[in-house]
Amino acid sequence: MKTFQKLLFVFAGLGFVMLGAWAHAAEGEDALKRAKKIDRLRGSAMHLQNWSAGPMVAMIKKQTPYDAQAFSTQAKRLAALAEMVEDLFREDLRSFAIDTEAKPEIWDDYAEFSRLASNLVDSSNKLVAVSANGDLADSSKAFTAVADDCKACHDKFKKDD
Ligand code: HEC
Repeated sequence: MKTFQKLLFVFAGLGFVMLGAWAHAAEGEDALKRAKKIDRLRGSAMHLQNWSAGPMVAMIKKQTPYDAQAFSTQAKRLAALAEMVEDLFREDLRSFAIDTEAKPEIWDDYAEFSRLASNLVDSSNKLVAVSANGDLADSSKAFTAVADDCKACHDKFKKDD
């Protein structure tokens, strides 16, 4: 009887450990799923910034007629997205096996990443203000400053495609 009790204890203990391991594996899977989701959100925000910039670039290059209203709308969209960059990238996902163009160095120096993100917020807000005046030459200059801020961060923190 004593041996049986011991055995029961051992099995119960084993079962507990196994359950623990399963729970841990599930947790790991959920964490990876979550990390992938965050990374997708990051890419989406970046693609949307590109989408916002597209019509402005076309007008600046005179590929499409200048439409002050449309230009200004795209500038506002870009500025709204720029606001999201700092928060979206804050979490360090380096420990997850995800396919990302985000360089690991981002989380060695998040203050620098934040500074570059905040530069984009400033330049895109300036673009919103300037574009409201409806002058393409001025808007074009303000847009160049925005594009420079995109590039500054990509040069430092984005892997090449
Ligand atoms: C503060 C840093 C920073 C700024 C500013 C920035 N980006 Fe990015 N961008 C990144 C990083 C990091 C990635 C890689 C993201 C990833 O793969 O998770 C990226 C990726 C991209 C991608 C590719 C997305 C993909 O998933 O393939 C596009 C397009 C892009 N950025 C456009 C822009 C545009 C347009 C601007 C300016 C309006 C801009 N970015 C400003 C950091 C930045």
